Amino acid sequence: MPIQFKPEDSRNSLVDEQKLVQTAAALLVGDKGLLAMDESNPTCDQRFARLGIPQTVEARRAYRELIVTAPGLADSISGAILYDETIRQRTLEGVPFLKILLDAGIVPGIKVDLGAKDMAGHPGEKITEGLDGLRERLAEYAGMGARFAKWRAVLAIGDGLPSRGCMEANAHALARYAALCQEAGLVPIVEPEVLMEGAHTLERCGQVTEEFLCAVFAQLHTQRVMLEGMILKPNMVLPGSTCPDQATVEKVADATVACLLRAVPPAVPGIAFLSGGQSAELASARLSAINTIFKLRQPLALAFSFARAIQQPALEIWKGEDANAPEAQRALVHRARCNRAARRGGYSAEMERS
Ligand code: 13P
Repeated sequence: MPIQFKPEDSRNSLVDEQKLVQTAAALLVGDKGLLAMDESNPTCDQRFARLGIPQTVEARRAYRELIVTAPGLADSISGAILYDETIRQRTLEGVPFLKILLDAGIVPGIKVDLGAKDMAGHPGEKITEGLDGLRERLAEYAGMGARFAKWRAVLAIGDGLPSRGCMEANAHALARYAALCQEAGLVPIVEPEVLMEGAHTLERCGQVTEEFLCAVFAQLHTQRVMLEGMILKPNMVLPGSTCPDQATVEKVADATVACLLRAVPPAVPGIAFLSGGQSAELASARLSAINTIFKLRQPLALAFSFARAIQQPALEIWKGEDANAPEAQRALVHRARCNRAARRGGYSAEMERS
């Protein structure tokens, strides 16, 4: 049940708290989740290049058209995160993507960070940029119809990493972004991501994730962000991708929820995990186990906001060919359905064969 927020609790007259709470509830409704389709042009081009797809505006447009027009997408997807190029694009027939999404009942959102850049004085670490001019950019997106936004910060685990300096600077930027979003009437998706690359253990990922989340929530509090009007988008707690001990699905679920229970205040209405480079099936299986094992203990909605774990199989089928679009759409909607089932704890490998 969505959190009830009473107007008399209001602390910041510049923020329409009721509207934020309603948008957050719409994004977390039932067992649906978010589709991240907000890859920046360089990231989208990299993924296209690997499959021999031309890296052009038109190819990106055609691919995004395939996604937003996929029949049945709205059955499992509550909101779609767009990129600056995509939010301005139209179908071949001239219908704005925004209209297609709104007509389908999918809430449009927008990625507003300008990317993770090398951080001065912190070799091997990144700081996410994009605060300058953000108020004006948010006003433009809100005017176009966006109802929520996303900002991703990344932390790498390695020898002596992450540093406190990198963690705190990213937490601070996330909180300033979130405050500006709420002022603009947009629900901030706050995405502190601990990267999967490396040989670190599950336990190490759990420690770093917990510390990062605590730093983020301390900054959100300091910057007067209304927790009831935001969504957290964290990584699952996972062993590093080259760690010899790849944990079971149950162990991942256990470690993830333990971490969240310690670090996330229950006023936050929901969590929407990123997939972070896990295979599509593993991401669904782990999300399902997280929901199954901890349904009773976890006060928050545990949803998904996947990019690769929903899109990758479809992209591999599409390969830039119009003729492959219907099959790619079916693959996309299938992954969205699997993750919807996972939100109920109802995903099983059988679903992959149906
Ligand atoms: P992945 O699910 O591919 O990690 O992407 C989520 C996302 O939105 C990254 O910012």
